[in-house]
Amino acid sequence: MPDRFEPIELIPGVPADSPMFHVEPPPPAATDVFGDRLGLARRYAAHLVGTGVERGLVGPREAPRVWERHLLNCAVVAELVPDGARLVDVGSGAGLPGIPLALARPDLEVVLVEPLARRVDWLREVVEDLGLPVRVDRGRAEDADVRRRWEGADVVTARAVAPLARLVGWGLPLLRPAGSLLALKGASAPDEVVRDATAVRRVGGSRPRVVRCGVGVVDPPSTVVVVERSPDPRRTARRPARERTRKERT
Ligand SMILES: C[S@@+](CC[C@H](N)C(=O)[O-])C[C@H]1O[C@@H](n2cnc3c(N)ncnc32)[C@H](O)[C@@H]1O
Repeated sequence: MPDRFEPIELIPGVPADSPMFHVEPPPPAATDVFGDRLGLARRYAAHLVGTGVERGLVGPREAPRVWERHLLNCAVVAELVPDGARLVDVGSGAGLPGIPLALARPDLEVVLVEPLARRVDWLREVVEDLGLPVRVDRGRAEDADVRRRWEGADVVTARAVAPLARLVGWGLPLLRPAGSLLALKGASAPDEVVRDATAVRRVGGSRPRVVRCGVGVVDPPSTVVVVERSPDPRRTARRPARERTRKERT
């Protein structure tokens, strides 16, 4: 066992000498981000590098960087989430970013939407073990049933789920008018925003903005593409004004 891993609390049903119990100690910033829920965040980190790796939800190489790349990278997006928001995390996978956000912000009402049964089972086990009031829903974001259940959300989050043009088609219908889609993206975010701006406008989204979260907390800071749903739902799916004008002239 590498020296830099330290044991943390045990997970029921797994032998105490299992490497699943070993996770990097949290960096100092984690105390500020998770506050008195740091113990729960450590437990979630142990799930990720333990059963998460064992059951194929997380790559084995993620273990040494689980705090920076996963827990903190996701939790700092809380900077963009209003108090008491109802948040739907689309394509949650191993609970990212939904679970770190629920840990960092107990005021939020969080739903994790994920289509794959194997991942949904793992998410339900972990949420129950952590005692979090987070709901896990099996389905695709674009499914009519999923939309019916969760429409009217204040915030939709997604990390590594789909290109922006497709993501807005799935995410905006889940939002209330003027609600925000927060898409965690990598270095390609500025190019994606330019490439997909027309597709975003077509489904009733605002001009996408690239925002950095967690400056001074995580290195590099998290890159988030923010798209607001139109405050006037009647404008959704309207064609751009210039197109209409051209048609009217012919
Ligand atoms: C690359 S994983 C990312 C998981 C997690 N968000 C993360 O950052 O680690 C993409 C996830 O999106 C889910 N997904 C794909 N299409 C989806 C859809 N239409 N609606 C909801 N989830 C979807 C997949 O099942 C998968 O768990």
